[in-house]
Amino acid sequence: MGRRDDVVTPDSWMPRGEALCSDSHPPLAVWQGIPGESCLVHVYAPGNNRGLARWEKAVRQPHPHRVDPPCERYSVCGGCPWMHMDAEGQRSARLDLVRAAYAEYGLQAHAPTELRASPDGLAGYRHLAKFAVGRSDRGNPRVGAFGRSTRNVVSIPDCPVITPVLREAMHTVAHLVIEQDIWPYDPEKQKGVLRYVVMRQSRATGKLLVTLVGARKSPKFEDLALALTQKLGSVAGVHLHVNRSPGNALFEAGEDGGIPTVRLEGDRHIEEHVAGLRLPIGAGDFFQTNPAVAELIIRDLEEWIPADVAVVDLYSGVGGLSLAAARRAGWALGVEVVETAVNRARGAASLNSVPAEFLVGEVVEVLPEIRRRLSGRQPMVVVNPARRGLEPGVIDGILALAPQRLVYISCNPISQARDLGALVERGFTVVHTRAYDMFPNTPHVEVMAVLSGPGGAPQASARPPRRRVVRKQ
Ligand SMILES: C[S@@+](CC[C@H](N)C(=O)[O-])C[C@H]1O[C@@H](n2cnc3c(N)ncnc32)[C@H](O)[C@@H]1O
Repeated sequence: MGRRDDVVTPDSWMPRGEALCSDSHPPLAVWQGIPGESCLVHVYAPGNNRGLARWEKAVRQPHPHRVDPPCERYSVCGGCPWMHMDAEGQRSARLDLVRAAYAEYGLQAHAPTELRASPDGLAGYRHLAKFAVGRSDRGNPRVGAFGRSTRNVVSIPDCPVITPVLREAMHTVAHLVIEQDIWPYDPEKQKGVLRYVVMRQSRATGKLLVTLVGARKSPKFEDLALALTQKLGSVAGVHLHVNRSPGNALFEAGEDGGIPTVRLEGDRHIEEHVAGLRLPIGAGDFFQTNPAVAELIIRDLEEWIPADVAVVDLYSGVGGLSLAAARRAGWALGVEVVETAVNRARGAASLNSVPAEFLVGEVVEVLPEIRRRLSGRQPMVVVNPARRGLEPGVIDGILALAPQRLVYISCNPISQARDLGALVERGFTVVHTRAYDMFPNTPHVEVMAVLSGPGGAPQASARPPRRRVVRKQ
């Protein structure tokens, strides 16, 4: 069956934010749909296993949480699939998605019922922006976003979810790219130099760190970096990352997963302030998109940390959670595979005078050494892995530490639910969960789960363990 209009009533959410109509044959993913609302849709890609449709209008009453998306590029860009719902509609949709993920592993009774809102609201909350560089249909250079389901770069001049300073910086880069005749990279022809521009703004200081992602080195980037710092007082530093990989990946990670960069202009890092901690963040470092929500998570985490317990923070990045834990508990040990992130975290520990230590290495490889070091101490373990969740062997390694408590923070409820299911099978008990609106207008959500260890009553360890540095072999 070809393209057509149809009347359907979606029944559930899909992880990427479309509303799924499972009654249709084949099931339909409806862009801008809302489960429970009967609507006229245009089926633009009928498909064999799943069709794709676009909401046209509600056939009876519009859903009570439906709003006109407050962005005229809503459907063209596709970066904010839930902008067609008000805050309450988004809140309950996000909790529905997490509940469905938890239900897959029999954990629906433990799914969070509370979602902490983004303190910066639904607009202007993004302090990290990743702009694609390409060409318009007329061949003019363009700085914007990949379009919904395409690899064409679309312009997003009024993007409401990034901060106003990032928006201004995007316009400045777009003008300079034209003025300085910098060619956008074309992956098909393998011509041109500039692929992406990544910018982070510190919520605390307002300063920007810019990373130009080039297909190769070029003197053009030095000119662009100089002009950017001269034109925008908010730009603290400009760096270059060279990504020679085919395809459309943003970065080409080094062997340890780090993003190598070279400084072209200005500072090596900007400083973010979260929960009273000063965190230097460099180009290529991972740090949360929404620092105000990162602060909520740290504050909540602190409440679950008993005094005088040894805290092990796995997947510690630039160290925000480790530092908060060390400040509260008297000592914490972070583990992170990216060496530059560990160096940043060590610097932050000294900047904040907090007794946190950091080890470089793969979690699964470092855990046995931590076990020897903490022997008999029943630590508290914090994990905040990447989207794929815990690697094979990590749960065994955590169990061997006999933790009294485990806090699992994740941006992917699907892998988190899988891992929580495995942890419950191994004797852990879920005692608390809470969701956080880290990414308003999208189906993405951050979830914190607190578990008690299989060993029964928690015992706090009285003193921090002997200092000893474990290095990656
Ligand atoms: C979601 S980030 C969490 C960062 C940090 N907890 C924070 O709040 O900013 C996941 C981190 O895990 C690191 N990572 C990924 N796989 C790892 C592994 N197998 N062993 C150690 N670290 C890993 C990544 O480099 C990244 O810094």
